[in-house]
Amino acid sequence: MSRSLLAFAAVLLLSLSTTTFAASADERAAAAAETRQGLLKVVGSYFGPIYAMVREQIPYDGELVKANAEKIATLLPMIPDVFRANTSAYDLDTESLDEIWDNIDDFNAKASASAEKAAALAAAADQGQGAAMKAFGEMGGSCKACHDNYRLQN
Ligand code: HEC
Repeated sequence: MSRSLLAFAAVLLLSLSTTTFAASADERAAAAAETRQGLLKVVGSYFGPIYAMVREQIPYDGELVKANAEKIATLLPMIPDVFRANTSAYDLDTESLDEIWDNIDDFNAKASASAEKAAALAAAADQGQGAAMKAFGEMGGSCKACHDNYRLQN
């Protein structure tokens, strides 16, 4: 690692440790909410282009479907980690329903089921557009299965 990179890493570590460890309970809860929302924003950023293909807003690209589905399959297993902090007692800007922490095993099982559907989509992308679109529908259903129960409906 170069010196400047090392210095950068040290600064990053310092700022992370300030937010993660030295904060008040309120600040920690807000940071936990930001972290889980950040993860799901990234999931959404990989989901978006595939959804745009389904809606024929951009041309179908099997390679991109596969790459994005693989990334979603890597990210979704992080859900149990970023939802470990039960923030239901805090007044936060969040769409996470308190029911998550009353049913954390079911919630985590839904994350795992959705990750499997994302992996299935990555595999289906090798079998052509028809197979990929069907698998995408199933993956979308697995996102919705969790959102319907545990995310505030707008
Ligand atoms: C196990 C439950 C679960 C699964 C599975 C899940 N989500 Fe979510 N998602 C949530 C919850 C809970 C929130 C609200 C987070 C918050 O505001 O604290 C959310 C929020 C989001 C957001 C908004 C993030 C933001 O704050 O801007 C997006 C986008 C999103 N999910 C996309 C997806 C997609 C796409 C999938 C499937 C590939 C998916 N989610 C699967 C539970 C889940």
